[in-house]
Amino acid sequence: MNKIVIAIDGYSGCGKSSTAKEVAKRLGFTYIDSGAMYRAAALHFLNENLSPLDSEDVFEGLKSLHISFQFNPVSQLQETYLNGVNVEKEIRSMRVAERVSEVATVKEVRTALVAQQQELGRKKGVVMDGRDIGSVVFPEAELKLFMTADVETRARRRQLELLEKGEKASLEEIKLNLETRDQVDSSRSESPLIKVPDAVEIDTSNLTFSQQVNQIIDLVHKVTLN
Ligand code: DC
Repeated sequence: MNKIVIAIDGYSGCGKSSTAKEVAKRLGFTYIDSGAMYRAAALHFLNENLSPLDSEDVFEGLKSLHISFQFNPVSQLQETYLNGVNVEKEIRSMRVAERVSEVATVKEVRTALVAQQQELGRKKGVVMDGRDIGSVVFPEAELKLFMTADVETRARRRQLELLEKGEKASLEEIKLNLETRDQVDSSRSESPLIKVPDAVEIDTSNLTFSQQVNQIIDLVHKVTLN
């Protein structure tokens, strides 16, 4: 199997991360969760009481921000570290979810994280998911996917995910958070979420997880055979 870059973009909560993780596992590629990096940055700003809207705070925040990933052999997952501390669980909380879109609108934050993402994908053999992977981070990616699902389905999936982690949230609260993030992510001036013309759209509303994964694996085989 040729080592290629697979860029997966799409709305919040349509199964990008779990799909990307499984695709990477099946191909023996590295999975990189770019959203986790924005979440870690948001957590850092929250912890340090810094405003992403204040340019001095942004400068301070970025100076002291170090994000890394480490493979956990027990969970078999890449886990996110913020300044050397494992924050994998904390970055998935509603507290962070409510602030992350704002941090992700800041140009300087994006420039720093995009540079790190490009470095992580330099050797190829990666699956990266996010909002601007096919458009900004890897415009030359061999395979670009744009995943969608209706908001009801996404909210129900996210609620289950949170419950599994012991966090309760109402469907309405989750729906509102997803819709707000969709709106901010798609309308921001810095690298808005868009479907680039060469991306293949996958609507997961009526697909099972394995159907979703198999569709992508089929596309990978087509791309690598050409
Ligand atoms: O994929 P996620 O829900 O974990 O992403 C969290 C937030 O980070 C999301 O609201 C948008 C932002 N994000 C982004 O702006 N660009 C990316 N490449 C990935 C995520």
